Formats: sequence, structure tokens, C-alpha cells
Amino acid sequence: MATTQYLLDASRMPKHWYNIAADLPSPPPAVLHPGTLQPIGPADLAPLFPMELILQEVSTEREIEIPEPVREVFKLWRPAPLFRAHRLEKALGTPAKIYYKYEGVSPAGSHKPNTAVPQAWFNAQAGVKKLTTETGAGQWGSSLSFAGSLFGLDVTVFQVRVSYDQKPYRRALMETYGARCVASPSNETAYGRAVLAQRADHPGSLGIAISEAVEIAAQNDDTKYALGSVLNHVLLHQTIIGQEAMLQLEMAGDDPDVIVGCTGGGSNFAGIAFPFIGQQLRGGKKRRIVAVEPAACPSLTRGKYAYDFGDTGHMTPLTKMHTLGSTFTPPGFHAGGLRYHGMAPMVSHLKELGLLEATAYHQVACFEAGVLFARSEGIVPAPEANHAVKGAIVEALRCKAEGRSETILFNLCGHGHFDMAAYSNYFAGKLSDQSYSEEELAMALSGLPSVPA
Ligand SMILES: Cc1ncc(COP(=O)(O)O)c(C=O)c1O
Repeated sequence: MATTQYLLDASRMPKHWYNIAADLPSPPPAVLHPGTLQPIGPADLAPLFPMELILQEVSTEREIEIPEPVREVFKLWRPAPLFRAHRLEKALGTPAKIYYKYEGVSPAGSHKPNTAVPQAWFNAQAGVKKLTTETGAGQWGSSLSFAGSLFGLDVTVFQVRVSYDQKPYRRALMETYGARCVASPSNETAYGRAVLAQRADHPGSLGIAISEAVEIAAQNDDTKYALGSVLNHVLLHQTIIGQEAMLQLEMAGDDPDVIVGCTGGGSNFAGIAFPFIGQQLRGGKKRRIVAVEPAACPSLTRGKYAYDFGDTGHMTPLTKMHTLGSTFTPPGFHAGGLRYHGMAPMVSHLKELGLLEATAYHQVACFEAGVLFARSEGIVPAPEANHAVKGAIVEALRCKAEGRSETILFNLCGHGHFDMAAYSNYFAGKLSDQSYSEEELAMALSGLPSVPA
């Protein structure tokens, strides 16, 4: 009988995170202070993050130990399964072999607890009592709420307005874990009030919600900020995904030719891809690495590689990344976790080095792919994950057209059980595809900060 699930014993769960900074041919551009335009140091980040996380942010050590108490929590759902998508392969009639790593088995339903748990733990170790954060899809907010409940932290989540309205049960989940959830933009911060004064029915964006969460953390000594993506330490924490997948593919006697992940801020993509890119950088096999983003928020495919703020209120340092402009408000499409104006600086750097490819698809095509996946494999993917499913299906159909039996690995980063309203809208024909003209993009990019080369 053909094997469908590749399961690792808990004893084989990775004990270290993989840090790609150790293997890069050139380091990414420095992070700059927005006032002085000089590179920032660890002390500049100290008001927002505990020192252990700041040290991870700047580390060039190849392996960073996962603390034992964090690994204990991970045992609730890790190692996560790797599946061979036999039924999807058959439905597509492809000679390709499709594998997917499934992160929806976590308590929050996605990859986000992989970093929420260590972030909460390092904060608790540093004596922090309260955390603030943003959430787009609700997956990250739920994950940090869960992690906060484990380590006695008080968590406040600014949930992007459209997502707050689309997904009331995500809010209920956060409250179940003991967190407070606020629709962003809100009246709780000076920045939120300023945005609402301009437009009372503002749909919100991750960039705005980040500004609100950062504002609260910066003003309160007992409060720190946690980010669900983009930063090096967040990407680092997700590398447990790719490391497990490597061991599981070994069990399957296979080796991927193509690796696919969806990109919002870049963390689940980094999680599946970085360990494999690292192997290549150390002289191993060269694979195609494909990042899939929404055509309605196309930072990697249509953004500019430039210094920009990570938030809309301009409270963060400047990082060099693919950006659509920090004041860009993406339309309210149904993959809230992918509605971010920028891309992780590390993912952007790897794209510039030619180590990955990027492609963009519209949401209707992604839902179509997600429904085919659900009808063949059973799991209903999160709308964000549908982008990876679409990317994998495109590769499998290419293999069919070319008569090649390549091995495709993709990250099914979350389930869509809280996203069924989006599926209902899809079935009712209510989803539309939005894109931008070059003029609109140029307008959003005209406000980029000027940084001398
Ligand atoms: C299920 C899911 N996938 C992907 C993302 C995008 O984030 P990232 O690119 O950091 O993985 C999110 C963000 O909320 C998410 O909830």
C-alpha cells in the first residue's frame, strides 16, 4: 500500500533553528534608524523586544538552540505530518509527485504558533508582563493569545478591521485564550485616532495595526511588542518546518525539485524553504524555490526593492525590502494574512541574490485550487495557503505538459475552518479580483523615505 503520511517520532523533532544568515554569500543591507539613517544596534530595539530575541535577530550562528520548555510545548502538535498528495496527483493526472507539509495541526490552525510560543517564552523569561501585536488573518493573534496563556502574559491584539468583521470566531478564539482583541484602526492609540479622523470606515491594514501595537509597547515599560512575520527571528523560528520536512522526505526516499510557499510577510515560506536553500548554499542540490503572493498585494513581483518603514505610522526602523509603499492599503480580499505592503528583508535579499522565484495569482484562481485540494485531499486550506496550493498545482500541470516526474513540496501553512465565509462568498460568485495600474503603484511608492545609496 502506498504511504500517505510520513510521521516523525517526537524524539526526532529538531533541537535547533536553522539561521540562513550563516550561509549567505553576502549579508543583507543594514537596518537603519529612521532619524539618523545610521545602522541600528541591539539597544535601539530594546524598548520593543527582549534581548534574547534581538540577539537572534542579528545572529550569524548557523544553529540556534530551541529551549527545552519551548520544545515541550511543541510536542502538543509537532512534529507535524508530511503528506503525499496521491489523490490530488490523480485528480490532476500529473506524473509529478506532490508532498505537502501540514501546519494546520497546531492549536491555532497554522504555522504561527511555531514563533508565538518561543516569542512568548523569551518575553516571559525577561520578566515582561504584557504583549501587544497585530493580526491580519487572525491566525497570528490566536497563536500569540495561546502562547501568552501558557506563560502568564497579558496579550492585546489589534485585528485589522476587515478581518475583525469577516471572522468573529477568530476574536472568540483569542478571547478563549484570555487575550483582548481590538479592531484596528481603533480609538485606543493616537495613530488609530488619526487614521479614523481621515476615514471613519477605514478597512485597516497590517501596516496600521502594527503601528498601533508598537505605539502601546513603546509607551509602557511593562509591555513589549511581538511580530508574527517579517523579522529575522520570526523566520528563524519557522525553520523547524523545513528541517522536519527534510527528515520526512528522507523517510519517503525522495528529494524535492520544486518547493512552493505562500508569502505574506514571508515567514511560512522561509520556514519551508530556508533549510533547503541553506543546503544549496553549502554546495548541495539546486532546487527551484517558488514564492506565491496575491496579485492584489504583489510586493515581491511588483514592489520596489528599497528602504521603507515596516508600518504605516512610521514608528519602525527602515529596512530594505520589496515594498509597495508603507502607506499602501491593499483592498479587502480574502487572504488577510497576505495583505502586507512589504516582504521580509531576508526573503527580499534572497530574491535579489537570485535564490528564489516569485509569482502572483488572483484570489478566485486560488480558491478554485483550494476547493480542488479539499475535494481530493480532504483538508480545507486557509485562503492564504490556497496561494501555495495554486502554485503547486501550476507546477504539477507543467510537469504533466512536459511529461516530467518532478517532486514538488509545498507548505500547507494553515486550515481554513475559520474562513468558511470566504468560501461561501466564492461559491456565491461574490469574490472579485483586484489589481493595480502602474500609476497607482507609482503613487504608493512616491512616499518612500529617501535614503542615500
Ligand atoms: C495561514 C496563513 N498563512 C500565511 C500567512 C502569511 O504570513 P507569512 O508570510 O508570515 O507566513 C498568514 C498570516 O497571517 C496566515 O495566517
